[in-house]
Formats: sequence, C-alpha cells, structure tokens
Amino acid sequence: MSEQNAWGFETKQIHSGQQPDPTTGSRALPIHQTTAFVFEDADQAANRFALAELGPIYTRITNPTQEVAEQRIAALEGGSGALLLASGQAASTFAVLNIANAGDHIVSSSSIYGGTYNLFKYSLAKLGIEVTFVEDQDDPAAWQRAVRPNTKLFFAESIANPRSNVLDIRAIADVAHENHLPLIVDNTVASPYLVRPFEHGADIVLHSATKFLGGHGTTLGGVIVDGGTFPWSEHADKFPGLTEPDPSYNGVSYTGAVGDAIAYIIKARVQLLRDLGSSIAPLSAWLLLQGIETLSLRIERHVQNAQAVAEWLDSHEDVATVYYSGLPTSPWYAAANTYAPKGVGAVLSFELKGGVDAGRAVVENVELFSHVANIGDVRSLIIHPASTTHSQLTPEQQLTAGVTPGLVRLSVGLEHIDDIKADLEKGFAAARAVVAAARV
Ligand SMILES: Cc1ncc(COP(=O)(O)O)c(C=O)c1O
Repeated sequence: MSEQNAWGFETKQIHSGQQPDPTTGSRALPIHQTTAFVFEDADQAANRFALAELGPIYTRITNPTQEVAEQRIAALEGGSGALLLASGQAASTFAVLNIANAGDHIVSSSSIYGGTYNLFKYSLAKLGIEVTFVEDQDDPAAWQRAVRPNTKLFFAESIANPRSNVLDIRAIADVAHENHLPLIVDNTVASPYLVRPFEHGADIVLHSATKFLGGHGTTLGGVIVDGGTFPWSEHADKFPGLTEPDPSYNGVSYTGAVGDAIAYIIKARVQLLRDLGSSIAPLSAWLLLQGIETLSLRIERHVQNAQAVAEWLDSHEDVATVYYSGLPTSPWYAAANTYAPKGVGAVLSFELKGGVDAGRAVVENVELFSHVANIGDVRSLIIHPASTTHSQLTPEQQLTAGVTPGLVRLSVGLEHIDDIKADLEKGFAAARAVVAAARV
C-alpha cells in the first residue's frame, strides 16, 4: 500500500484500487451488474451488517465496480475514502446532510454552481437548514462574521465557474478550523490533477464526476472524498451524528466503530445512501473510471487550449472582458499560481463589446462548439449562463455568482486549437452583423 501511495498521479489514475480479477483474470475492471452479493455464511452476513467486515451487501450501498472508482478517486485526491453517487447534486446534498440537521446553519460562498445555490437556499431551507452566503469569498473576515453557534460547515468551489475565481483554500480552511468546522470544497472545475484541496487544509472534497473526471459527456455521477484529517470526536458536541450511537444502525457510533479518519465517509454510505438511495449504476461507475484513466492527459490539453483561447480572446477587438485566472490581468492570477500551478482548467467566460445581443449571436452561430448546459467534455461547449444554467436565480443573485447579462461561457475541448479559434471567429462575425443591423 505504501508503494501505491508513492506512485505518481499518472500511475494512480490507471492502477489505484484495482487488481486483475482474482476469479477470471480479467485485466480491465469487470462491470458487476448485480443487485446483491452472496454471503459465505451467517457470520459473514452478520459481520458485514455490523460493519465488523467492510464487504459488499447490496448495490444500493456498495458494489465492487463502484468501489474501485471510489478508491481511485480517493487516491488521486489524497483522501482516506470516497463515496460515488448518482450525480454531483447528490454529492453536494449528502456532503451537507451528513453533518447538518434541522436547526443547523451552514456558510457557503455565493460564487458556486447555480444548482448548488438553489439546493442550499431553497431545498435545505425546507429541511430546516439555514445558509449564509458569503459574497466576497476572498475575505476571510466575511466568513468569520457569518459563523453562528449552530454552524456546521463551510462550502466553496476551488475554481468557480463562470468567473474562474480561485479560492484561497488555506485562508478559508484556517477560519473554518478556528471555529472547529470542516471546509468542504467542490473541486469539479479543477479536477485533482490541477488542485489538491486536502494539501491546503480542506477537509472534504466533492465533484460532479459528470464533468472532467468522466470527461466525455456521457455519464452522470458525483463523488465525495474524505480527507481523513478532521477530528470529529474532539468536537463531539457539534457533530453528535458522527460520535453518538445511531439508533438506525444498531446503536453504532461511527467514530467509535471506524475512527475519525473514515467515520464521515462510512456514515454517508451506510446511513444516508441506505436511506436516500441516490446510488450510481455499476455501468456508470465503470464509464467514469474509463475517463479517469486518461485524466492527466486530457486536462493538460484542456489547459493548453483554454489558455490559448483566453489569450486570443483577451487581444480580440470584439471582446470587452475575459474571465480566466490563467491571465496575468486576472485578480486571481496569484492564487492560481499558488493553488493550480499546472493551470486553471478549461472553463472561461467573456463579455463581448456588443453586449447581450452579440453574446447570443455567438452562441447561435458557432458550429464546432456545442450549445449545451455542461462543462468538462472532450468537445468544446458554449452557453449563455444568464438565460440557462443560472436562469433560476434573480438578477441580483446572478451577479453575486459572477453572471452578467452578456456573459458567454466556454468549456474548451480537445479539438485542434486553430479549429476552435476559427469557429469562435465565425460566431464573432455573426455577432458583428447583428450589432450593425441593430444600429441601422
Ligand atoms: C461545480 C459543479 N458542481 C456540481 C454540479 C452538479 O453536478 P451534476 O450535474 O453531476 O449533478 C455541477 C454541474 O454543472 C457543477 O458545475
């Protein structure tokens, strides 16, 4: 195991968590398309239910295909364990509900994916969990001011879309820890190849695996990774769900049964996943893992293309502003060099001088770029966030999430850079015609 910990990222993304199948010798990971697993005897069945032996019982709770993907992602993030779920939304929901109950409060950056914002503001409120949004996530004092006696966690994205702002993970983790709280980081846009939040103090990491981890725009999935370092039992008053007996699980105390390092991720599996059932299908886990095996290679090219597009847009006469923290003019350039020295990913956005109409004309007239609500595909993607991904937010909420009316967002794919630029140029020509026609 220690040898595996020393492996480089490229080796881990191919090998961690998997041996050739002991029964058949299958080198590639088998897809275990089964709902249940045969117990050897009554003792083994009892031990698995009692958590005395961690083995498969039923695919809603665990499955060997899913487990390899979990171990691989945990290895890439440097965590103690992971839980793969049906979508990124399920991962965000579970990450919070695992430690916050009715009557509790959480603190989140407002610069987060629109779907997460809705989940926190409206759905968690219905469950009795209140959220305070910090509008300037770069201001540690603002996070401190938001803390209440019943606060249970801090939440932010390592690199947020669409503004490409890079979180000062260390500063916000320090504030969280001074208040005996964990920092949960959504690392979707960065991927573990570019940002490793645990190395900077984050406690829990999550992903929409739908995006860069899977990488091919085929499969929904989400994952929570436990950093294994948060001392839950030292703060038992704040996190009784982890430390006190769980009456729904034979009175087990999770920290007592499995220790602080994996109590959080085990509880999320055996309690929340058991009860809420947001399981990933074995085939989806397998498809995501297939993508993960080439993660570093894809991300290197994503970054190379996105950096080239950002620089080209920055000097383009039709473009008013580019938001990409890989540009030296970005307010987050210094943070990017600290936290994402290999690059800040493939999501960037820009504002055209021609405003909203020009932005819409670009989206409608590009051909290589696909007009879809997604990021992290090998294909280049484009969207107008204000009328789509962030349309359920009010105009004021959109602005706090970095979405201005004319903003166009790109997820730069792996096509040849000349073809990517030529396609955008086609959209810009159409936009110029629209703006000229409006003037006549
Ligand atoms: C940063 C981020 N987090 C979470 C999600 C939700 O993931 P999913 O669509 O897999 O539910 C998304 C989806 O766009 C996202 O961009």
